[in-house]
Amino acid sequence: MQVQRQNRFKAAMEVVRTELLAGDIWSTILRYPEELAPEMREARPGQFVGVYPKDGSRLLPRPISICRLVPEERTLRLVYRTVGAGTEEIAAMPAGSAVEVLGMLGNGYDTESMAGRRVVLLGGGLGIPPMLELAASLYGKAAPGSGQEVPSAAERKTAVTAVLGYRSAPLFLKEDFEASADAVYIATEDGSEGTAGNVLDAVRERGIRADVLCACGPLPMLRAVRDYAAEQGIPAYISLEEHMACGVGACLGCVVKTKHEDPHSHVKNARICTEGPVFPASEVEI
Ligand SMILES: Cc1cc2nc3c(=O)[nH]c(=O)nc-3n(C[C@H](O)[C@H](O)[C@H](O)COP(=O)(O)OP(=O)(O)OC[C@H]3O[C@@H](n4cnc5c(N)ncnc54)[C@H](O)[C@@H]3O)c2cc1C
Ligand code: FES
Repeated sequence: MQVQRQNRFKAAMEVVRTELLAGDIWSTILRYPEELAPEMREARPGQFVGVYPKDGSRLLPRPISICRLVPEERTLRLVYRTVGAGTEEIAAMPAGSAVEVLGMLGNGYDTESMAGRRVVLLGGGLGIPPMLELAASLYGKAAPGSGQEVPSAAERKTAVTAVLGYRSAPLFLKEDFEASADAVYIATEDGSEGTAGNVLDAVRERGIRADVLCACGPLPMLRAVRDYAAEQGIPAYISLEEHMACGVGACLGCVVKTKHEDPHSHVKNARICTEGPVFPASEVEI
């Protein structure tokens, strides 16, 4: 249920604004040039971009998932934690400056195949941002405040539930999810808001039922989601955001073992940056 995309580009984008959401979590909105409209129309939730730091000593682009794409405004939103020099540099870019972006990378979720089903999105920590574009795509593309109508649940027949797991309050992106999902549930590790525990604790506590699970977050969470989906007999799609180098399939720095042999290369490996980052949970060895 993933789709390989052919919407690759490298282009300069304008920094519209950057704000601190909570702790060390930042949101940066970029405006892309008009010429990229076709590539952006092709973009799928689950795809990511590579943002080039300006400092020449850090040559590799930093992979960051699409958090939100609003074609009417030509904006791409990235939400990220500052963990090192690259992400700190992105957070410090002034409004109006230009940044080099490589996109759209990776595959993405096949949202059409989820139509009419109860889709439960599980986001843990920095796995929360990519779930927002997925929620918005399933719920209806209109951005809050855009004046466009969001189709009703009956028109869509797709029920979108987001379960978001944080270490602790304050929470980030919660209101954005409330505008893009039928229901939003929260779990915090320290119990400061919502269910005390992780996203699956919230699923069990609130009796949330799913036909399809989509998850992004730390590996232990993704393993638990895979096991839960197998126990429930439902499909799960997980997005792996492990370490990466080139981001375009050339260096093999991001391979994951797969259950099935690739018919072309005859190996049981897939590149997360190219065949992923979205995989059926039952097909990768994590
Ligand atoms: C497909 C993909 C999508 C991603 N999407 C997002 C996103 O939406 N938001 C976000 O905050 N981050 C995301 N990441 C992680 C992000 O790319 C890294 O945090 C970033 O590249 C770190 O760059 P840096 O120069 O700031 O830190 P570095 O100096 O490169 O590293 C600082 C520290 O962070 C660790 N680190 C670096 N990359 C990762 C990683 N992928 N996973 C875990 N630890 C890492 C390093 O080991 C080191 O300890 C994504 C990663 C991938 C592969
Ligand atoms: S990061 Fe180079 S092949 Fe995936």
